[in-house]
Amino acid sequence: MKVFLIGFMGCGKSTKAKQLANRLNCPVIDLDAEIVAQEGKTIAEYFAENGETAFRELESQTLKTFPYPETCVIATGGGLPCFFDNMEWMNAHGKTIYLQMTPPQLASRLHNREKRPLLKGMDDEQLLAFIEMKLTERDIYYNQAQIIVNAFDLDVEILEEKLNA
Ligand code: S3P
Repeated sequence: MKVFLIGFMGCGKSTKAKQLANRLNCPVIDLDAEIVAQEGKTIAEYFAENGETAFRELESQTLKTFPYPETCVIATGGGLPCFFDNMEWMNAHGKTIYLQMTPPQLASRLHNREKRPLLKGMDDEQLLAFIEMKLTERDIYYNQAQIIVNAFDLDVEILEEKLNA
């Protein structure tokens, strides 16, 4: 079984993916980290050099061509489910879990804004307004996940239970 964790920047996809993979005793794959390794540059550098459209194509291609082991937990980039047919593809190839948080919760967790090209240079007020706007746009994709969990203070055991329910 492949488990795809999806959700907005800062909702804890990478951390929860590691914890869940530990519980399931299987490998964890972080698609953003795979892109960084493959391209030899950070996501911020890739955006700056090639633009967002090229990044969206690359992340979609990485999602669909990665040599996944049979069982694994995959942390996806926050925008990945919202482009092309990526959400449908994930639903067809594994279990999808949306780690849901409110805009203020997300804002309180997004400290390192410089490494995230979409948040670069924002102050707290701009950040909250941006999250509210983007979440409204993205929720139609995120809500197509097979499992939706409140991700604030989420215990990995609860996540495992939901997966097995
Ligand atoms: C993005 C989220 C980032 C990364 C890129 C774009 C987004 O991943 O893919 O900066 O559009 O929400 P994280 O959600 O892991 O921060």
